[in-house]
Amino acid sequence: MKKTILVTGGTGFIGSHTTVELQNAGYNVVIIDNLSNSKADVVDGIEKITGIRPAFEQVDCCDLEALEGVFNKYPEITGIIHFAASKAVGESVQKPLKYYENNLLSLINLLKLMPKHDVKGIIFSSSCTVYGQPDPENLPVTEQAPIKKAESPYGNTKQINEEIIQDFVHSGANISAIILRYFNPIGSHPSGIIGEMPNGVPANLIPYLTQTAIGIRPCLKVFGDDYDTPDGSCIRDYIYVLDLAKAHVAAMARIVEGKNTDPVEIYNVGTGNGVSVLELIHTFEKCTGVKLNYEIAPRREGDIEKVWGNVDKANKVLGWKAVHTLEEALSSAWNWQQKLRERGVM
Ligand code: UD1
Repeated sequence: MKKTILVTGGTGFIGSHTTVELQNAGYNVVIIDNLSNSKADVVDGIEKITGIRPAFEQVDCCDLEALEGVFNKYPEITGIIHFAASKAVGESVQKPLKYYENNLLSLINLLKLMPKHDVKGIIFSSSCTVYGQPDPENLPVTEQAPIKKAESPYGNTKQINEEIIQDFVHSGANISAIILRYFNPIGSHPSGIIGEMPNGVPANLIPYLTQTAIGIRPCLKVFGDDYDTPDGSCIRDYIYVLDLAKAHVAAMARIVEGKNTDPVEIYNVGTGNGVSVLELIHTFEKCTGVKLNYEIAPRREGDIEKVWGNVDKANKVLGWKAVHTLEEALSSAWNWQQKLRERGVM
């Protein structure tokens, strides 16, 4: 029988792509989302891609009663993938309580309900932000690298949530958890039907870049060219969202099949390759044929100079590997931006 997975934040960027991959792998999906940063018509998009309409409930994970209503309505839920969270780093500095309340309470409510409703496992979206700037000898960074003090309330919620999961499991709760530490997710579904929809002026590189390429923004600012990197710009590990989505499917299979050896397992999810901002811009220009207007600007406060992941553990244990190229990811992001223009969205 098909297993049913609850995807919180399932109409968001990574949640929607993961729902598609879960359905492709034969899972039933129940999405819950409060639609604070996404639209309900994403569910139509998912159906268009897979031919299967996921169940959708507009519920806020902070609302314990409403959340319990979902578990009562779908008693067949066997696993959870928890994406729902506030994720704007800058906003989290302005509104820390919003971030602590939303991101911590959502997870706590899910954990509270899991044993009661016999839900086996949860996959939690964490971030390489927990490593801060790794010491040079620790690059590419492994899961064992020290956790550094978070640079923002957003980053701190990821660290605290990892600890909440560890503490709950170690208290004897009969659940399993897999924590995935994402590097930088980019790109959109190749169909151009679902993709990344930032609110207002994007803070992240790829949406800003594609909006510049299409003329919504006049110029992309490269934040710093005087870092200790080969071309002076910052280095990140950019992973195509389709690959990232498939990592969740591999992690979920490990949990539902009871193959996990530890009740809490942690995996880096990246490509293992570091790419600089300038390299990324030049790759975008080459693979799309679009000339990008960009300029070198001062460093952005709080930026990490260089970080990329050692992903051996995910490759070996989860049997998962990022297979798409940076060119494919960037072409898909550009395709999505053009589709938004065709549809008159922006
Ligand atoms: C940021 C967060 C990280 C979070 C992730 C979610 C910080 C310090 N980190 O990662 O915790 O998990 O978003 O997506 O905020 N850049 C430019 N010009 C721009 C925008 C970005 O040069 O207009 C550069 C940045 O300096 C950086 C790179 O592009 O080197 C990637 O930036 P971004 O997409 O914002 O992600 P991170 O900062 O790596």
